[in-house]
Amino acid sequence: EVERRVAEILAQLTLEEKVGQMIQPELAELTHEDLREYGIGSALNGAGIWPGGKRHATVQDWIDAVDGFWQAAEEHWEGRPFRIPFMWATDAVHGHNNVHGATIFPHNIGLGAAGDPDLVRRIGVATAREVAATGMDWIFAPTVTTPRDRRWGRYYEGYGEDPALVHAYGRAMVEGLQGDAAALRTDEKVLATLKHWIADGGTENGGDRGTARCSEDVLRDIHAQGFLAGITAGAQSVMVSFSSWSNPANYDHSPEAGEPYNDKVHGSRYLLTDVLKDALGFDGIVISDWDAHAEVANCSAGDAGYAINAGLDVLMIAGREAWQSVHRTTVQYVRDGVIPRERIDDAVSRVLRVKMRAGLWEMPRPRERALAHAATPVVGCAEHRALSREAARKSLVLLKNTPGLLPLSRTARVLVTGSAADDLSKQCGGWTLTWQGDDLDRADLPDGSTLAEAVRAVVGSERCTVDPALVHADPADFDVAVVALGEDSYAEMRGTLKPWRSLGYADLKLSYARDVEVLRRLRTAGLPAVSFFFTGRPLYCTEEINLSDAFVAAWLPGPYAEGITDVLFAAADGAPGYDFQGRLSSSWPRTRDSAAVNGKPSHLPDYRVPEQETAPEGRYAPLFPVGHGLSLHDPAPGSGPLPSDVFHQAPPPPPADGPLRVLDAEGSPYRLRIGGHNTWSREDLSLTGPTRCLIVHADPVPAEKGTGLRLSFTGYPAFVYAESPTGTPADLRGHLEAGAHVRFRVRVLEQPSAPLYLA
Ligand code: IFM
Repeated sequence: EVERRVAEILAQLTLEEKVGQMIQPELAELTHEDLREYGIGSALNGAGIWPGGKRHATVQDWIDAVDGFWQAAEEHWEGRPFRIPFMWATDAVHGHNNVHGATIFPHNIGLGAAGDPDLVRRIGVATAREVAATGMDWIFAPTVTTPRDRRWGRYYEGYGEDPALVHAYGRAMVEGLQGDAAALRTDEKVLATLKHWIADGGTENGGDRGTARCSEDVLRDIHAQGFLAGITAGAQSVMVSFSSWSNPANYDHSPEAGEPYNDKVHGSRYLLTDVLKDALGFDGIVISDWDAHAEVANCSAGDAGYAINAGLDVLMIAGREAWQSVHRTTVQYVRDGVIPRERIDDAVSRVLRVKMRAGLWEMPRPRERALAHAATPVVGCAEHRALSREAARKSLVLLKNTPGLLPLSRTARVLVTGSAADDLSKQCGGWTLTWQGDDLDRADLPDGSTLAEAVRAVVGSERCTVDPALVHADPADFDVAVVALGEDSYAEMRGTLKPWRSLGYADLKLSYARDVEVLRRLRTAGLPAVSFFFTGRPLYCTEEINLSDAFVAAWLPGPYAEGITDVLFAAADGAPGYDFQGRLSSSWPRTRDSAAVNGKPSHLPDYRVPEQETAPEGRYAPLFPVGHGLSLHDPAPGSGPLPSDVFHQAPPPPPADGPLRVLDAEGSPYRLRIGGHNTWSREDLSLTGPTRCLIVHADPVPAEKGTGLRLSFTGYPAFVYAESPTGTPADLRGHLEAGAHVRFRVRVLEQPSAPLYLA
């Protein structure tokens, strides 16, 4: 039925109207008159662009703006036998983050550490409700990148370095945002966008918009995992990455060959059309990033022909002149035969299909949709704020502990210090009300608490002193210090848009001399220090760890620091007691220059560990591996007197039977995904329910391509690549369903940093 309606409408559109559906201008560069004239299909509000330029625009201001644009777009279709509803898109990357008063959730890197896909699903549900309540239809989330270089400025937008985790989370977030096909047509759900296709987190030296130099296997097995899961879960749009892909297999490696050829993903017909649309069967919208068509060879700000031919369906274009020019040139290219009419029809069919799947024809206008929520307002509601606090609590990773120190007594005298003690920007990070998330104050985030405020609320003002630079307080007056340190907020790029204040781009050193000085003074005074590190990525901060008695990676938890004090303090009478639950979803660097030390990029030819992190025997030896995180009562490895610089924690010895344990995963909750080997396929032959029986051996399998089956265990924390000596996926599935014992030889795609457990 959808396809019939799509074809029917498509047949009645003029070429100009078709191209209008493919253009997505920015709110500030689009007038109501433009909408009436062009029949524009959708608009976005970019980060830090609010209706009327009002940073604190109210929910009603947003509804009025969205509704006004919607109405103007409707007027284009007056007098026609059909109409095409207009869509509004926004970046809701950690909650509905452009809207004042909406719930802000921890950034994805923290959610990854929580290791809880269901939590992510619930955050998706909450985010969708808040976005839908402002009359909007489409969000540019989740980011299902697999970030592999800690220098990347967008690291925190990803869930972690483990592709299996990204796979599980990508699916969960899409399910939360969109629900099933029926739910997606309701005004409780929004369209999800998987971004950024592909390998934005795999670029050389972690450069934003850089080049991923990796094999196609790495592209598929590491960088595509979140997309495969999200597409299978029904995600309706995919945003293309600004980055390029350069496949070493295609290089001429001779010294005289010069720079290898780079394919801007926005201009890659192979990646957009052959792989994403044809091989993976993605039938939703492929949307460009902000003005990104202009970076493709043979294109310019006002000319997107080549990128459209590569497979872009919707072009996100900021400037008014630029989008009008793209409209003009595209129409002309079709008339001249440069862009085939079928390509335009394919793009517009996708837009119409997605709008139909979202139920937009049946949906009341935005103002009325919002009215339906008026009785029980959802934007920033108490239930969602509690969810954000829960997420912050679950994301905390205790990296170092001194037995007996935690949890703190609620009657302790507490000194709260460190540069991030009372700083909402450091706590929330980029994409919070503004693009860079800087200079946030209480008026920007009227709910929630900084860490200092949350501590004070627990122990009372009389027992709490806040002194970020430790200039007034005397450590001798306290029982314990809570120290907050962390990065300044940032979003995108290489930090060139503003001074890179807390982090040298060239390395991973957090350089807050003042905070180190504070920690030293506390140590000299003998006051125990419990440090919380607000950060978008694992950074080299060994000195800070060494000077702390307990050290917690708190990521970018958002504005509800009560999630931190829930764990930091012993339970109040009658309240549940919490433990640290977070485990690293990305490994922690052992040295400050964990990549590109000899000028050598970290991703050549495939992602491999930086040299400094490779112990003499060649094993990956980060300071803390993926999966690391202490509980309150764990013995505390690494506590006690530590060397002043490098934290000499010996890597765990490899298990006797090789890097993998021999497993008998009878009843394992891990799903088995079976796909063709060396092909792009999202065929998900997951066995329903737990795997019946799975015995995994650690036999090494030669790395060269085989013709066997590819299996991945879509569960945290293992990602393995296996080959079966027998049969087709269907045969294998048959064996497993019959309860047979099947043996797999497993090749480890990346060296596990800890023994793998599947059960
Ligand atoms: O969605 C974002 C994208 O992640 C980065 N560039 C801008 C887009 C729209 O704001």
